[in-house]
Amino acid sequence: MTNRPLIIAPSILGADLGRIEAEAERIKASGAEWVHIDIMDGHFVPNISFGTNMVRVLRRLMGEAILDVHLMIEQPDRYAGDFIEAGADCLNVHLEARHQVARTLASIREKGCRAGLAINPATLLKHAAPLLSQCDQLLCMTVNPGFGGQPFLAEVLPKIREARELILRQNYNIDITVDGGISDATAVACMKAGANIMVSGNHLFQQADLTQAVANLRAAARSGNVSG
Ligand code: DX5
Ligand code: ZN
Repeated sequence: MTNRPLIIAPSILGADLGRIEAEAERIKASGAEWVHIDIMDGHFVPNISFGTNMVRVLRRLMGEAILDVHLMIEQPDRYAGDFIEAGADCLNVHLEARHQVARTLASIREKGCRAGLAINPATLLKHAAPLLSQCDQLLCMTVNPGFGGQPFLAEVLPKIREARELILRQNYNIDITVDGGISDATAVACMKAGANIMVSGNHLFQQADLTQAVANLRAAARSGNVSG
């Protein structure tokens, strides 16, 4: 359960990239608050997606929409400035990547961008805990990063609950993102555990009516925001 505002973030990886302008219009009309952009380097994850050019294109096409950029790359500190300059509003960097995480988070904030810490399903919260005071958002991967369309890993739910409790206890101002395999059913469980940013790729873009899909996901997540 969370008292933070619910944010729906369609993941552009699930969109039809051959029709990027039409997809951007569809997202803008859908009522989704954010757009999630997955950057993969073929090293940190076994897949390559896109780079700063995609962020720049979406900055132009999406108007004022919040661009939530997820760096699944090694040495994210080397590229953070370029992504911010391209138009990222939030930059999520992985705890497991090769860099000085605390320093990278600080430099993202210094540049006026929201700093997100992303953790893989197998990474324990105790490793992220000392860094939370430097974050605006904690991204809990609910699949192993690298590909869209993978099944949700329910074993991450206790960690989300633990994170929300820690954040409340410490009085941190932090959103919790879930990313991977998010559908109406899994969003209920994530919201119940304390997440409030729902990233969803395949599930949303597979549906012909994106506006309805976003509304359904929102309603499902809200129904999970109950104590217990
Ligand atoms: C996975 C990416 C996700 C992905 C989610 O490595 O970080 O953001 O786009 O896609 P779905 O919702 O299809 O699992
Ligand atoms: Zn992502």
